[in-house]
Amino acid sequence: MQLTIIVPTFNEAPNVAELVTRTAAAVQGVDAELLFVDDSTDDTPDRVRAAAETAPLPVRVVHREHAEGGLGGAVLEGLGLASADVCIVMDGDLQHPPETIPALLERHGEGDVDVVVASRYRSGGSSGGLADQRRVWVSRLSTLLTKAMFPIRLRDVSDPMTGFFLVDRRALNVAALRPRGYKILLEILARKTLRAAEVPFVFDDRHGGYSKATFRQGMHFLAQLWQLRFGKMSVFAVIGGLGAIANVGIVWALTALGVNYVVAAIIAAEATIIGNFLLIERFVFQDMRAEASNVWWRFAKSFTFNNAELVVRIPVMAFMVSTWNFTAVLATAVTLALAFIVRFVFHSLVVYAPRTQGKPSPARQFLDELDEQAVRPGEL
Ligand code: GDD
Ligand code: MN
Repeated sequence: MQLTIIVPTFNEAPNVAELVTRTAAAVQGVDAELLFVDDSTDDTPDRVRAAAETAPLPVRVVHREHAEGGLGGAVLEGLGLASADVCIVMDGDLQHPPETIPALLERHGEGDVDVVVASRYRSGGSSGGLADQRRVWVSRLSTLLTKAMFPIRLRDVSDPMTGFFLVDRRALNVAALRPRGYKILLEILARKTLRAAEVPFVFDDRHGGYSKATFRQGMHFLAQLWQLRFGKMSVFAVIGGLGAIANVGIVWALTALGVNYVVAAIIAAEATIIGNFLLIERFVFQDMRAEASNVWWRFAKSFTFNNAELVVRIPVMAFMVSTWNFTAVLATAVTLALAFIVRFVFHSLVVYAPRTQGKPSPARQFLDELDEQAVRPGEL
């Protein structure tokens, strides 16, 4: 089998027959199958089975009892069940014209990309079928925001929000994908650097039925964007912030008990360093522990780094204040921010480094690691 066309459906009964007919016509001569991944409460699956009987290509439907992950979950499930490695994902309401499929295949056939995006924003494409002016603006703004967040990974993609694309599943790390709502392509493109190209398409009016996009989907999208960009790093930051609060609290409690403030500060710093390590072990780098060196060695590296940071940060601050005339507050803020980034990179690169690896240049490693780690799944 050369191609699987995955169609996620939620109550698309009035569109099924037409979709099967037009898709079959569009892929004549290609060894292709149609795979519906369905979460409907109407009779969409029956309509698919009826259409399958007369269709000139194999048509399957998988009906899911629990609609895990909604649209994105359905697409992932489809990628797992597909007979072919090359898959095209297409909506079930004919807003994505099946007649664009040959252009997607042809572009992929050039052999230099893993993903081909059908874009509304390339010349020759259009987003005419978006329900109203408000959706046009929402779509434009969210596209801009998304591209700003991933300027490098989305360099070649003008429409990361489209639901119409070709992907070679061999290029994906499916286990790392977290389907949340609608934007599965964004998830695919942001998690890993893939080679992508685009072809234009005209986003049509819905054939029948009604749109399932909601305000809630919009909120899902913002949460997804945040977690994609700052996933691991934001959990790391939250834990760091909690540590700072705990630090102050411990100093306060100990001095209130009459402990000398220098001793109190040392105890508080070491206690937070240990607490921090335990929390990031559990909540930030849990997926890297198995490959990394043993826990005591990890602790030794983390502990040494944090103490060194403590020692180095104060003179650096002093230097900023005396030489660059920074105010004390600004110097504190700048050194804390720098320390945060260096700490994050050090932990992902050194503390949780896989036990053996062939090494590219350290500078390259630093950048790759920062980029890879920051987008890893890291929900709280
Ligand atoms: N299996 C499954 N489960 N399918 C779903 C679900 C779900 O929970 N929710 C929606 N779908 C299916 C619909 O049946 C349809 O085939 C497709 O996903 C898109 O849903 P629509 O309700 O038609 O959404 P839209 O037209 O507003 O959104 C489309 O355009 C956006 C671009 O503006 C989608 O293609 C989006 O992915 C795309 O971003
Ligand atoms: Mn639609």
